[in-house]
Amino acid sequence: MSDPIYKTDALIAEDIDAYLDQHQNKTMLRFITCGSVDDGKSTLIGRLLYDSKMIFEDQLTALENDSKKVGTQGQEIDFALLVDGLAAEREQGITIDVAYRFFNTEKRKFIVADCPGHEQYTRNMVTGASTADLAVVMIDARKGVLVQTRRHSYICNLIGIKNIVLAVNKMDLVDYSQEVFDKIVADYAKFAEEIGIESFTAMPISGFKGDNITLAPSDNTPWYGGPSLIEHLETVEVLTAQDAEKPFRMPVQWVNRPNLDFRGFSGQIATGAVKPGDAVRVLPSGKTSHVRSIVTYGGDLDEAVAGQSVTLTLTDEIDCSRGNVIAVADNPPEVADQFEATVVWMDDEALLPGRGYWLKLGSQTVSAAVAEPKYEVNVNTMEHLAAKTLALNSIGVAEVTTDKPLVFESYADSRQLGGFILIDKVTNATVAAGMLHFSLRRSQNVHWQAVDINREEHARLKNQTAKVLWFTGLSGSGKSTIANEVEKRLNLMNRHTFLLDGDNIRHGLNKDLGFTDADRVENIRRVGEVAKLMTDAGLIVLTAFISPFRAERQMVRDLLPEGEFVEVFVDTPLEVAERRDVKGLYKKAREGKLKNFTGIDSPYEAPENAEIRVNTVEMSPQEAAAYIIDRIMPLK
Ligand code: ADX
Repeated sequence: MSDPIYKTDALIAEDIDAYLDQHQNKTMLRFITCGSVDDGKSTLIGRLLYDSKMIFEDQLTALENDSKKVGTQGQEIDFALLVDGLAAEREQGITIDVAYRFFNTEKRKFIVADCPGHEQYTRNMVTGASTADLAVVMIDARKGVLVQTRRHSYICNLIGIKNIVLAVNKMDLVDYSQEVFDKIVADYAKFAEEIGIESFTAMPISGFKGDNITLAPSDNTPWYGGPSLIEHLETVEVLTAQDAEKPFRMPVQWVNRPNLDFRGFSGQIATGAVKPGDAVRVLPSGKTSHVRSIVTYGGDLDEAVAGQSVTLTLTDEIDCSRGNVIAVADNPPEVADQFEATVVWMDDEALLPGRGYWLKLGSQTVSAAVAEPKYEVNVNTMEHLAAKTLALNSIGVAEVTTDKPLVFESYADSRQLGGFILIDKVTNATVAAGMLHFSLRRSQNVHWQAVDINREEHARLKNQTAKVLWFTGLSGSGKSTIANEVEKRLNLMNRHTFLLDGDNIRHGLNKDLGFTDADRVENIRRVGEVAKLMTDAGLIVLTAFISPFRAERQMVRDLLPEGEFVEVFVDTPLEVAERRDVKGLYKKAREGKLKNFTGIDSPYEAPENAEIRVNTVEMSPQEAAAYIIDRIMPLK
């Protein structure tokens, strides 16, 4: 039988909808539990589910049987088994993925994400924490504040969780000693202050015995004057209530235009409240209008607040599309294209500073590059370390630059408009999560100057179509030789050309760059921008750079109008290039005298769909050049 209360990420959206429908009129609290492996998180969640009667009879029987077979608690029910549902997890004795569970009491409904403790699961924890109102930080009363406790608390605070419960668990194993409890609370308070946690609620509990879970104080802790865990979870203020107090912002998910008479903007209100008649501003354009009506399936509303999904109609026909933000007119969010941000790296392949990634912030998607980090944070000691990149599970602070302006707020003010993810353009994997701090450059201050003699005009005067012939291939593959031959032939045909060659550009414009991955990315970015300017001037540009990465060749392709980028793969096998070794560099690389040499100890990603491929084993440079000319100049 499938377990109705055990769900992972993929199913969560559907489940939340169904679950919300069932318990319409209760508020919802999302929380996470974190702690180290043996702190008893799973037992605690099992206990919460059990005490709120979320376990069905037949599951309970199965649990009792299981407890006898594999439980670690003798004859008593092992609540951890209820939660650690996966066989593999049981065998390993640790909880791996983020698992979401649902339960409810008379007063509230709850979604709890159980976050794994190990450092290699920082990314899972960030995922689980990103939507949480509250975090239960578990401590084993026998062990006190550990490195993990600090790491988890740091991440919770970073993610903006304001409500932290310090659950000092396993009190039964320290004879319910007030002294032990007070000491742990004092230790934690000192640390919390250091990292900027403003307040937390500490409680002595036993997930296993049930002390202070539903009722407080338990007979075993008469000295404890605070609420039980459930009481606290039921009454603590949820995020949407806090968000409702902030200025109005709604990211537009889609433009609802069923017929010519109706045009509405649909989305979920991120913060604040809105009423018909309110003056609003659409960002980034800055155009203003007034709200005509707030439309929902259940009829028009007099007011809508943070968390509600609505369709707004406006009194004026102004431009507004997906990715725009509708905000209160006199206090709109900022628009910028350069930021400082905290970045949590979540991919096996490390951050490549300068590379273009898709950045998604709410319904906005732009291309973004992350600079070399200002520093990385050691998540165990909170020390700042120098860093050139960010590897899996590392957290750092860096500058982020976007190719288009973003409507944003600092993460501290708005998770919805300050939290983003980065996506690899080639693999489509989510590689990072981030939190914007502030803008470094307002996009309003750097304008694009319109000019009268435009790129079409330049090309027309030269009587040609501008193009970039982008030669790529290993060092010594023949790129420069063939490009040179192609340029000569084009000049004989009266074409206006310019050849940008790797070795030459590295003597001037790019003489500050070496051969690390990050430097190669920057090399190609600059050459791409220069090639683009030259096509604006109407030239046929030939470039000869190894340009080993697909992502950067794609970036240059995306810079140019469709059809202007022609990728020419100079396909020379490594053995052949190495045998020729025109510059003697392969020999040096093999002897270890030259590091990061392409093909030896630095990768080359061959093009998959190059417009033109020349095989230099079968063709001479002259033949290759003639072949290329035939393909790009059908009319000569
Ligand atoms: S790219 O990878 O950034 O595109 P680029 O084409 O500019 O490289 O420069 C490659 C040229 O630099 C090679 O043809 C070779 O002459 C020289 N070179 C020096 N060191 C290296 C290295 N480690 N890897 C590749 N090429 C190198």
